[in-house]
Amino acid sequence: MSYSPHPQRQSNRSASANGSGEYQIAPSLGPQELGKVLDIQFPAAGGGQDGFKEQVDKVLKWSVNTWDAGFLDKLYASTNPIGIAADLLLSILNTNAHVYNTSPVLTLVEKATTVFLAQLFGLPGPHIGGFSQPGGSASNSSSIVVARNTLYPETKASGNGDYKFRLLTSAAGHYSVEKAAQMFGMGSDAVVPVPVDADGRIKVAELERIVVELKAKGETPFYVNATAGTTVFGAYDPFAEISAVCKRHNLWLHIDGSWGGNVVFSKTQREKGLKGAELADSIAITPHKMLGVPLTSSFLLFRDLRQAWKAFTLPAGYLFHTAASDDPDAPLEIYDLADLTPQCGRRGDSLKLFLSLQYYGVDYYERAVDQAFANADEFYAALESKPEVFKIVSEKPLPCLQVCFYYHPEKDLVDGAVMTARTAEVARRLKVRGWMIDYAPGPEGKYFRIVINTRTTSEIIAQLVRALEEAGAEAVAEEQAGK
Ligand SMILES: Cc1ncc(COP(=O)(O)O)c(C=O)c1O
Repeated sequence: MSYSPHPQRQSNRSASANGSGEYQIAPSLGPQELGKVLDIQFPAAGGGQDGFKEQVDKVLKWSVNTWDAGFLDKLYASTNPIGIAADLLLSILNTNAHVYNTSPVLTLVEKATTVFLAQLFGLPGPHIGGFSQPGGSASNSSSIVVARNTLYPETKASGNGDYKFRLLTSAAGHYSVEKAAQMFGMGSDAVVPVPVDADGRIKVAELERIVVELKAKGETPFYVNATAGTTVFGAYDPFAEISAVCKRHNLWLHIDGSWGGNVVFSKTQREKGLKGAELADSIAITPHKMLGVPLTSSFLLFRDLRQAWKAFTLPAGYLFHTAASDDPDAPLEIYDLADLTPQCGRRGDSLKLFLSLQYYGVDYYERAVDQAFANADEFYAALESKPEVFKIVSEKPLPCLQVCFYYHPEKDLVDGAVMTARTAEVARRLKVRGWMIDYAPGPEGKYFRIVINTRTTSEIIAQLVRALEEAGAEAVAEEQAGK
C-alpha cells in the first residue's frame, strides 16, 4: 500500500489531460503567445455568470496541472480534499489572524500547531513556539530580524548604524537570505557564502575560519543560516557542529528547513538528516512543500518565542489590547499574533496543516514521508540500471527527494554548454509528453533535478524513465543533425 497526502491519480501518459490534444500537463506557450490567447480585458460592464465561467474555463485550461503525477518539477505538488476544504473554510470565515478578538479559534490553533511542530524538532524548554508566515522566504527573512534585534537590541529602534552586519549561509543555500539582507538595509553583499563539501553540506571549519576573519576585520557576523534540504541537491548541513561554532562566537543559528524540514514527521529521516536541529535558535518549515498542504503554509519556530515578540512588538494601541507580563520568566501570554510577526493582516494559514493532521493523523505523515523516500530510491535504481544513458550526480543514500542526473550516452565528457542545451531540450520534449521536470546548474552544465513525491509510483517511474530515454535520444539526434 502506498501513502500519499496527494490523491493517487493513475496517469495515462498517452492521453491529453484536458482532452483538447493541446497539452497534457502545462501549456507550452511563452508569455507573449499565451497573452494573445488569454486576451485579458477589463470591461466596464461585468460579464456576469457567463463572463465568470468563461474566465474560470481559461484559468483551468491554461494553468499547470499540479494534480498530475507527471508534475515533478518543483518542491511541491497538488493538495488533497482536506487541504481544499481547509482553504475554503479560511476564505469563508475571512477572519483576520492579527488579533485574538477577530480570530479566537485560529489564534489558538496557530499557537498549538507551532508548539507541536517545535516539539517534533526537539526544541526544548517552556518558551518554544512560533507563528505562520506566507512562505519559506518570509520565514527566513523574519528570523533575521529576530536574530539581529535579539543580539543587538539597540538596532530595533536605531537600525544597523555603524555595524557591518554579516550573515553566513551555505553556498548551496536559498536566495531568500540575500533578498532579506537587501530588504533590511544590510545589502546582499553582507551575506557570505560558506563553501560546501562534495555532498553539498557546509564545511564547518570554513565557517569558523570565515567568522574569525570577519571579526578580525571589525565586521559583525551575527547569523548563520544552515539548511535542512538544500533546494537543488537536498543536502542537510551538520547542525550540531555548526551550533558549536555559533555558541563559540555568539551567533544566531537558524535552520532553513523550508523543504527538508518536513521530514521531521519520519523517525528514520529525522535521525538521518535532522540530528542537532534541536540546538537551533529558530527553524523554518514549509508544509506546502512535500506535505501536500495548500500554498501558503510555512512556520517559523523558536526555542524562545519571547525573543520574537521582543524583536517585533510595537505600540499600536488601536489594535493590540493585551500586554505581556513584566515577569521575564513568565510564558508569553500574547494572543494578538500580529504583535510578534511582520504582518498586520494575516491569514490563519495554520488551519490547513492543523486540519490535515486531524484528518490523516500524525502517523500518516510519517508513512507518507517514508514512502516518498522509498519512491526516490526506486527512481534512482531505475536510472542506475541504465548507465549507458544516464549519469547520476546524486549520491546514495539520497539526502532528500531530489534526484540529479544527466542524459549522457557518450563515454567522454560533454561540453557544459552542449549539456545545458540538451537538458533544456529534453525537459521541453517531456513537457509535451505530459511531464514537468526542472533542471539546475551542475558540474558539467545543467542537469535534471527531478523531485520525487509520495505518489511517484513504480508505474509512474517506469513511464518516466521510458520518456526520458525517448526524449533524450531525440535531443541527441537533433544535436548530431545540427552539427
Ligand atoms: C531551501 C529553501 N528555502 C526557502 C525556500 C523558499 O520558500 P518559499 O518558496 O515558500 O518562499 C525554498 C523554495 O524552494 C527552498 O528550497
